[in-house]
Amino acid sequence: MTGHHTPEPIPAGLVTVAGTDPHAGDAMSSLESTIAATAPATAASATALGASAEQALGLPDFSSSIYKDAYSRINAIVIEGEQEAHDNYISLGSLIPDQAEELARLARMELKHKKGFTACANNLSVIADMDFAKEFFSPLHGNFQAALAEGKVVTCLLIQAILIEAFAISAYHIYIPVADPFARKITEGVVKDEYTHLNYGQEWLKANLESSREELEQANRVNLPLVRKMLEQVAGDAAVLQMDQEDLMADFMTSYQEALTDIGFTTREIARMATAALLG
Ligand SMILES: [Fe+2]
Ligand SMILES: [Fe+2]
Repeated sequence: MTGHHTPEPIPAGLVTVAGTDPHAGDAMSSLESTIAATAPATAASATALGASAEQALGLPDFSSSIYKDAYSRINAIVIEGEQEAHDNYISLGSLIPDQAEELARLARMELKHKKGFTACANNLSVIADMDFAKEFFSPLHGNFQAALAEGKVVTCLLIQAILIEAFAISAYHIYIPVADPFARKITEGVVKDEYTHLNYGQEWLKANLESSREELEQANRVNLPLVRKMLEQVAGDAAVLQMDQEDLMADFMTSYQEALTDIGFTTREIARMATAALLG
């Protein structure tokens, strides 16, 4: 559906590979060998059977060119998101020096996620469109860098540890049921890690809420509309992967509002903050 210019929203943290060896347990390969073993042993018939097996399960045809085209952008967004998440946690360590070690640990998890998602593309013989993904992230990237230069730790945490993590969690949630078997395993491992990261941001902001409140509301006003636009941009490609835009947005808003509740905002304050998604 969206050809070349549809962005993919699976940003940050899209994927992670937590403990997944990209070369081991390749579920796709084992599925294909299973299929091949029960079918005439030609590559062509195995492929044809693979596609129809997927369709019987209501899954996309992972080998189709339309799927691979959309995947080249969605997967790139995920890979770029994981890389940016790594860089952002390292940068946060410079703003919160007594937390630098813990933040470096979170950063390492992001690189592992990136490796996992890179393996997912290789598994489907897809080349990620990284130029597209860099462009996709550039507004949020720019806002994070500007906040970093000003030493605004609250804004940096809201962007990375709350907005990007909630975005990643929602995208991974919606992707898992329609993913190929290899990517599903990897993504399931990653989601768990992203909750750890979201929780890190929540705990810090909860502990510093009174001094952070004003900056948080301002950062929300500026950055929540960007996340909404990212979700809109990726909708066409996501639809090819059978990921529904409304499900994505609903899942994201649920995670985001739960995070704000945990940080200590009231229902009324959260409603007002969420309204920023509609404006801007
Ligand atoms: Fe991640
Ligand atoms: Fe993360």
